[in-house]
Amino acid sequence: AKGPVRVLVTGAAGQIGYALVPMIARGIMLGADQPVILHMLDIPPAAESLNGVKMELIDAAFPLLKGVVATTDVVEACTGVNIAVMVGGFPRKEGMERKDVMSKNVSIYKSQASALEQHAAPDCKVLVVANPANTNALILKEFAPSIPEKNVTCLTRLDHNRALGQISERLKVPVSNVKNVIIWGNHSSSQYPDVNHAVVETEAGEKPVRQLVADDAWLDGGFITTVQQRGAAIIKARKLSSALSAASAACDHIRDWVLGTPKGTWVSMGVYSDGSYDVPPGIIYSYPVMCENGKWSIVQGLHINEFSRKKLDATANELVEEKALAYSCLS
Ligand code: NAI
Repeated sequence: AKGPVRVLVTGAAGQIGYALVPMIARGIMLGADQPVILHMLDIPPAAESLNGVKMELIDAAFPLLKGVVATTDVVEACTGVNIAVMVGGFPRKEGMERKDVMSKNVSIYKSQASALEQHAAPDCKVLVVANPANTNALILKEFAPSIPEKNVTCLTRLDHNRALGQISERLKVPVSNVKNVIIWGNHSSSQYPDVNHAVVETEAGEKPVRQLVADDAWLDGGFITTVQQRGAAIIKARKLSSALSAASAACDHIRDWVLGTPKGTWVSMGVYSDGSYDVPPGIIYSYPVMCENGKWSIVQGLHINEFSRKKLDATANELVEEKALAYSCLS
């Protein structure tokens, strides 16, 4: 039998946390044969509520769940963790400037970076969910220099899954038959959902999405804006931001990273740019990746047309600006 894996969830008393921890405890993130110990961190005002989540986890009697640590102490939370899912952060409140939100989150991610670096298991894999996700991940990476840079990622899988969902709805095919969409860039409305390499599995083999949809105006217009603005549409409908879909995407991200992507399939992950596709190095940028043996690698050699090039550059520019803003908050 496998030994337990320690999984940290920060912001565990929040909305996404409440949807995510039962998924992890049921084996959706790491597999139905992988025991887990959950480490849950939140801040003191949420301590009582966090303890309530712990009580419910005990009451759910999950067979794979071998222990629960619920704490407001960052060091205790980070100690020995193999996977860290960073959902905790400071939300943008009405009337707040972008710089103020950035400043709060940069200081949170700087201090949590040190705690992870000093106390997590040596090969800990980190997924940042909290917004601004790419830049929080970058700060975490910069202030945890002994964590390999390939181990620090951010979540764009929700956007990726939203893109699959839109194609599936449009073509009336099961979502599991659609693959290889790409989310490029920032987890913000500047992201570029790209279907130029996406395919659908049909009885006659794999067919390009562009051929099956046969509506370039929609693919280059409404499809892109729907995916970019889906988060806002959920807030409008639910009066709360996406939670179950975000939690599910976080499980997909870690599962594929640890257990591998299916042959011939890629997924989108925010990773530290090495300059692939002429994106500036030194930012966390969402790319198409394939995973094997616990490691991701960027899918190379895809043709980028002029329309796509502009969009890859625009979202990269936004990330370069966010990086500068984050650094200006530090000094
Ligand atoms: P929420 O406000 O319900 O929960 C956030 C939790 O973080 C709260 O319990 C809060 O007390 C806690 N927290 C605040 N500061 C903390 C700190 N320093 N250490 C530990 N915990 C701390 O928010 P929700 O809806 O769960 O969303 C969480 C984050 O995920 C937000 O930043 C949101 O914008 C982001 N998000 C990202 C998505 C993505 O695709 N990357 C999708 C949806 C949301």
